[in-house]
Amino acid sequence: MKFFLDTVDIDAITALLETGLIEGVTTNPTLIAQSRRPQHEVVRDICALVSGPVSAEVIATECEEMLKEAHDLAHIASNVVIKLPMTFEGLKACHRLHQEGIPVNATLCFSPLQALLAGRAGAMYVSPFMGRIDDCGQDGQAFLESIRDVYDNDPTIETQILAASVRNPKHVLEAAYAGADIVTLSPTVFRALCTHPLTDKGLEQFLKDWHSAQ
Ligand code: E4P
Repeated sequence: MKFFLDTVDIDAITALLETGLIEGVTTNPTLIAQSRRPQHEVVRDICALVSGPVSAEVIATECEEMLKEAHDLAHIASNVVIKLPMTFEGLKACHRLHQEGIPVNATLCFSPLQALLAGRAGAMYVSPFMGRIDDCGQDGQAFLESIRDVYDNDPTIETQILAASVRNPKHVLEAAYAGADIVTLSPTVFRALCTHPLTDKGLEQFLKDWHSAQ
């Protein structure tokens, strides 16, 4: 399972790229709004740093308008992936962009059927929101597993499952168990994956023992 960062924080991306594990970035309208910078500027800056796919989401809700925005965003850099909501209009736009060879990330996916449609429409990625599913008292891991089953039952589907709305390390583990291809997570959650209190305690003891013998 690969790691993408779900952030528009340039400093955080720069710092975590040093691990060699960050293979892409996802953004969404909320994150862009929080940055208080124009979307094109933010996406351009991220694409200059990251050679992997960078998802940029359209704001339009109607197919033709989505396509206009998608073409503008796709011109920013060759690694831009167009994020489209999994609606009827988004599905039509996904089909059109796929025909044009522009990669799509079908976002706001909350059912295996939506994922199936995205897969059949040629989306490069589908983003099931596991955290928001858990928020509703449903099971985010089981949701991902059901998408994995649906895709494995249709060998013509090449869409990668990009686990999204990942709020904690447990979600990351659940995404890995469920067979997600990629997980997109905040810099905070990524850093939390590297830490364990017993690692810190063990290291402290090793260093104490080492220095007391010098
Ligand atoms: C990623 O593509 C999503 O936009 C993001 O993970 C949503 O996360 P949230 O449910 O924590 O807002």
